[in-house]
Amino acid sequence: MPSHDWRRTAVVYQVYPRSFADADGDGVGDLPGITGRLGALAELGVDAVWLSPFYSSPQADAGYDVADYRDVDPIFGTLADFDALLNRAHDLGLKVIVDLVPNHSSDEHPWFRAALAAAPGSPERERYMFRDGLGENGELPPNNWDSCFRGPAWTRTTNADGSPGQWYLHLFDTKQPDWNWENEEVRAEFLSVLAFWLDRGADGFRVDVAHALIKAPGLPDIDLRVDDGLEADTEGLFGSGPMWDQDRVHEIYQSWRELLDTYSTDRILVAEAWLQPLSRLARYVRADEMHQAFNFDYLETGWHAPALRRSIDASLTANDSVGAPTTWVLSNHDVVRHVSRLGLNSDGPRPNGIRAQDPQPDYALGLRRAKAATLLMLGLPGSAYLYQGEELGLPDHTSLDDDLRQDPTWWRSGYTEAGRDGCRIPLPWESDAPGLGFGPSAKTWLPQPDSYVELARDRQAGVEGSTLGMYQAALALRRAFALGAGSLEWGVDRGAHVVAFTNGEVTVMTNIGAEPVPLPAGEVLMTSDELTADGLLPPDVTAWLV
Ligand code: NOJ
Repeated sequence: MPSHDWRRTAVVYQVYPRSFADADGDGVGDLPGITGRLGALAELGVDAVWLSPFYSSPQADAGYDVADYRDVDPIFGTLADFDALLNRAHDLGLKVIVDLVPNHSSDEHPWFRAALAAAPGSPERERYMFRDGLGENGELPPNNWDSCFRGPAWTRTTNADGSPGQWYLHLFDTKQPDWNWENEEVRAEFLSVLAFWLDRGADGFRVDVAHALIKAPGLPDIDLRVDDGLEADTEGLFGSGPMWDQDRVHEIYQSWRELLDTYSTDRILVAEAWLQPLSRLARYVRADEMHQAFNFDYLETGWHAPALRRSIDASLTANDSVGAPTTWVLSNHDVVRHVSRLGLNSDGPRPNGIRAQDPQPDYALGLRRAKAATLLMLGLPGSAYLYQGEELGLPDHTSLDDDLRQDPTWWRSGYTEAGRDGCRIPLPWESDAPGLGFGPSAKTWLPQPDSYVELARDRQAGVEGSTLGMYQAALALRRAFALGAGSLEWGVDRGAHVVAFTNGEVTVMTNIGAEPVPLPAGEVLMTSDELTADGLLPPDVTAWLV
């Protein structure tokens, strides 16, 4: 396989550095902790690791608020620790993708501090989105945009003499001011940041809110009657409105691609863009732009066979139209884990976190469905993304003490939306160790729920029937049968509640109905749970056959 083909077929494992493994015992995960545990990921059988941000940051949004794009935050380690991590990963045959956050910086970034200290209209302010307020004395925000974390997307500054000043835009938290991508200095700075990490050997970038960088000229009000994206979608990220998916954003990614192509041909750009329709998302992965985009349409699709078939078809069609690989994803650090999601007895919209007083997921049902969903996903052609801990069948922490919540959504929503802490709990490695082996001390920055003891990696490693074993076996077979490089054909018809397709030699079949169904002829390679005594495929189980 040519070395650059990994960008079309890879299984990428997302490491959330705060919660993967802690080497220094302060309760927060770090880069040496990750390096020490990379062997487990090689054993699992993934091709690449994506690291959520580890840069210098006041951690107002868990590192998605970057104060220095070229350094490692002391809580995570040093640049030398990054180099060591990268070397170890490469020795193990794993690629490393870093997270780039280009829509906004931290308000503690030196350029934002300089902007605050400078006068309106100054070159320093031009790098960010400063505007005068509306109203007689500028007391009203410049437009009606809301932050994705709730509350207004504008914060008013205070002048040196204490009088109220201009406003600045932040599509996320107050501490995450949006860059002005119309500014040439900003464009040059990010090309230099990309080069910095490419020179260090990073294999590519996951690009945060890739569809937000360019805003509509004049920053017009969002028309809530028409652009109902903000209202309809709790995260405001579904892409309609003057702050999302403006055509000119593509020229930025074309320039990044040009830069990447001056390096070896196997570096990757991956778009994070919560965007509909899929035809718009596909524009980010045209031949001269990024290589992949996360498929959130798939993540958002419920446990319904027709809906899953539709999403799979639509995803493949949209990406095929531009010659890009399709990706698949079920969990990440922003959503309730799919074990918990699929255990909820509700067809409503995906919740933004689950609190103790909310209806609780049925773990056994959720796990059964999640395993079936994963085996279905890993049977699809293209690239797949796994979120740390899903290979252990971890649920969200759904009874976390509200006082411990750290996601800014929690307070910005007036304490109504739990936010994303529940899916970010430190991993359980060893069931008998303090902190379940997360680090050398018993400290964990968020408490682990009791259920994590049984699910710790050492309880599952080498254990037949474990979730970890299923992931390992599926990844090995996926590689052996080159499923990532294959193509999908429908054709096996087992009724409305079954998703069934062939990918090369392998038939993948998932029963989402209430009754067992017969399997097609062939040898069963693996299943996500046991077949019935008479060899039928039970509800909420996936089988691979050859
Ligand atoms: C998407 C990231 O995945 C999320 O964690 C973050 O809060 C926002 N972008 C803002 O950077």
